[in-house]
Amino acid sequence: MIEPGTWPTAPIPTERLVLRASEARDRAAFVELFASPEVGTYIGGARPRDELERAVPEVPGRRPGCFVVALGGTMIGMITLDPRGVERRGHVRPEGGEAELGYLFLPKAWGRGYAFEACAAALDWFAGARPGEPVVLSTRSANDRAMRLAAKLGFAEVERFEEYGAEQWFGVRPSATPAG
Ligand SMILES: CC(C)(COP(=O)(O)OP(=O)(O)OC[C@H]1O[C@@H](n2cnc3c(N)ncnc32)[C@H](O)[C@@H]1OP(=O)(O)O)[C@@H](O)C(=O)NCCC(=O)NCCS
Repeated sequence: MIEPGTWPTAPIPTERLVLRASEARDRAAFVELFASPEVGTYIGGARPRDELERAVPEVPGRRPGCFVVALGGTMIGMITLDPRGVERRGHVRPEGGEAELGYLFLPKAWGRGYAFEACAAALDWFAGARPGEPVVLSTRSANDRAMRLAAKLGFAEVERFEEYGAEQWFGVRPSATPAG
């Protein structure tokens, strides 16, 4: 997976965005993300802002596998590539621990193709860092935006199952598939 030695990577520029490690100036955007009812709709709900203000560290998300996505320097979302827990349902290899893509963007940045652009760049980076490794993804099947994005990124359905009281879609993107 993504060992600390290979992280943080140098910032990754895309046509309109930059993927980079988290910085202290991103803290307000992290709070905004986790306090947003729209962002939380399919991922367990929003958290109270005052609780977040107390709990969120000075530099949130500074760890291997977490990209801040910035537009003109300002954070508009985050992308994660974390090992999928072996205890979870949904795997494409028996030992588990596959790289799993996650994406959360601020609602004001939705509908402009930013999430696609940023995820495609993260997947390209991963394909270079871990050649031949598949990337998996799971989302509530009711999460239309996340489902459309997964399809555009080249993820194909492996299975659907119930988890957290709802139907989950689990897909894989073979390493050879170009991001688009
Ligand atoms: C999932 C999420 C990241 C998708 O964001 P998004 O902005 O819809 O995704 P994309 O970047 O693919 O943008 C697609 C939209 O941009 C539009 N668009 C505008 N300009 C575009 C461009 N230059 N290129 C591509 N698409 C463009 C597309 O037409 C599309 O619009 P539509 O949704 O109305 O059809 C976002 O909804 C989110 O953060 N949700 C909350 C967190 C969450 O549930 N995450 C998933 C957990 S598994």
